[in-house]
Amino acid sequence: MPSHLIVEEPQRGVLRITLHRPEALNALNTALLGELAETLTAAEQDAEVRAVVITGSQRAFAAGADIKEMAERDLVGILEDPRQRHWAAIAHFNKPIVAAVNGFCLGGGCELAMHADILIAGEDARFGQPEINLGIMPGAGGTQRLVRAVGKALATQMVLTGEPISARRALEAGLVSEITQPELTVERAVAVAETIATKAPLAVRLAREALHKAEDTDLATGLRFERHAFTLLAGTEDREEGIRAFQEKRPATFSGH
Ligand code: CAA
Repeated sequence: MPSHLIVEEPQRGVLRITLHRPEALNALNTALLGELAETLTAAEQDAEVRAVVITGSQRAFAAGADIKEMAERDLVGILEDPRQRHWAAIAHFNKPIVAAVNGFCLGGGCELAMHADILIAGEDARFGQPEINLGIMPGAGGTQRLVRAVGKALATQMVLTGEPISARRALEAGLVSEITQPELTVERAVAVAETIATKAPLAVRLAREALHKAEDTDLATGLRFERHAFTLLAGTEDREEGIRAFQEKRPATFSGH
């Protein structure tokens, strides 16, 4: 069993993962990151899991990479860092992730939150990339994903000043899709994940891939991918079921085929 995560049994298609290093504001040490990568890799093979919620505590989603651990790594240590493998596993996870963010969401914590498909934040959440204060810079996608999420102007200000932004600012900038009262953040994220979990898994998977294309390809390529994915879904049982259920005025039951 992982020791830096609380992983619950999937319920209504949703796997809930809580980052749990309260003594270090959930700083992402290599062990935690490895456990997260391993848990997600296992969840890919589990048909019961149709969406994942990742959360931290009320005080911190995660306060970044573990600075104490980082201090021990020299240039060669960073070059050969196993963390790259863990980040890659998280980035390639093929089911939707909803992040429920309260409190500090900084550095690697913000980078982890940006690996989620949907971010729901408590009103007290603070998002930032403070690496510049340590004489370094974001190294797990922060400069790239933040520009795509909030635009170049705000991303540049955040990365170069190290100053965090509030949940409301994050909402206005498009980093998060909703803000809630802090005590309701997880509940709301689970509700969103449960809604996704009722949809046809293949449609969710391909729609998600198409959305990702919008971030890393030109419009013509993205549109071509969308059309191919849309066409592919015409061959699924779930498409037949979805359309039939609509015509019969009943809820659809999707099988994943
Ligand atoms: N790594 C290791 N330990 C951390 C940590 C981190 N990123 N953030 C907090 N902690 C520890 C603190 O050392 C402290 O432990 P001790 O009591 O044993 O000293 C404990 O968590 C509580 O933290 P504070 O006492 O500092 O709490 P606070 O409320 O006064 O301040 C904070 C909270 C503003 C988030 C402050 O802890 C802070 O600035 N943390 C560092 C944030 C940061 O710089 N993150 C970026 C890390 S680099 C990175 O992320 C790079 C990358 O991914 C590539």
